[in-house]
Amino acid sequence: MNKNSIINSYKRVSSFYDYTFGQVFRPGRKKLIKMMECDKSDKVLEIGIGTGSSFQYYPRETNVIGVDISPDMLKLATKKIKKNQYNNKYISMMNGEYLSFADNTFDKVVAMYVISVTENPKKLIQEMKRVCKDDGDIFIVNHFSSDNDSVLCKIFEKSLMPVSRILGWKPYFPFKDFNNYANLNIKEVTKTNLFDYWDIIHATNSK
Ligand SMILES: C[S@@+](CC[C@H](N)C(=O)[O-])C[C@H]1O[C@@H](n2cnc3c(N)ncnc32)[C@H](O)[C@@H]1O
Repeated sequence: MNKNSIINSYKRVSSFYDYTFGQVFRPGRKKLIKMMECDKSDKVLEIGIGTGSSFQYYPRETNVIGVDISPDMLKLATKKIKKNQYNNKYISMMNGEYLSFADNTFDKVVAMYVISVTENPKKLIQEMKRVCKDDGDIFIVNHFSSDNDSVLCKIFEKSLMPVSRILGWKPYFPFKDFNNYANLNIKEVTKTNLFDYWDIIHATNSK
């Protein structure tokens, strides 16, 4: 999907996202942010922040900037920041494939459920690496297809086809193809959410 189709998709789902898909993705968000071990000196960039559901899991003192291309999702994120008086949490409308931040700005860069939605995942990962400090950390949660997927996983994948269309996911997204260009320096991979269908990846930055 191109940028405008993504914006239109999330215009349609934004009003019910938190009560539906957002709930399914909740354990993965929580687990990933725990793995990040953020402290008050960390500068974090979250790409595809959506409705801002992750803000609640970061320590209050951690500085987090969330960017997204969907004005409708960001409107809900703004409401959450105001309602909960989250400290040090900011949002900005920005395409993760063309970030306006300088090189080596962030200690931690994270993308949750975004890699297989964005139009050009190669550009997105290049930008994540560029704005992340040389010794910084990159975190991703996404479903990656694999030749070794279990039968249960394949059945689940088929049943998710209509959802994939609504959320603009690329249903078949093999990790080996992604990592050919991402070239991630992987530290840890762990499974999460329903049927362990999603992977959390922690990598140290390598440019
Ligand atoms: C499935 S939602 C995930 C939202 C949130 N991360 C969560 O955990 O619920 C995908 C989000 O990525 C955003 N997105 C897709 N492509 C993007 C891009 N190139 N730059 C920034 N945001 C993007 C969409 O607008 C949407 O809000």
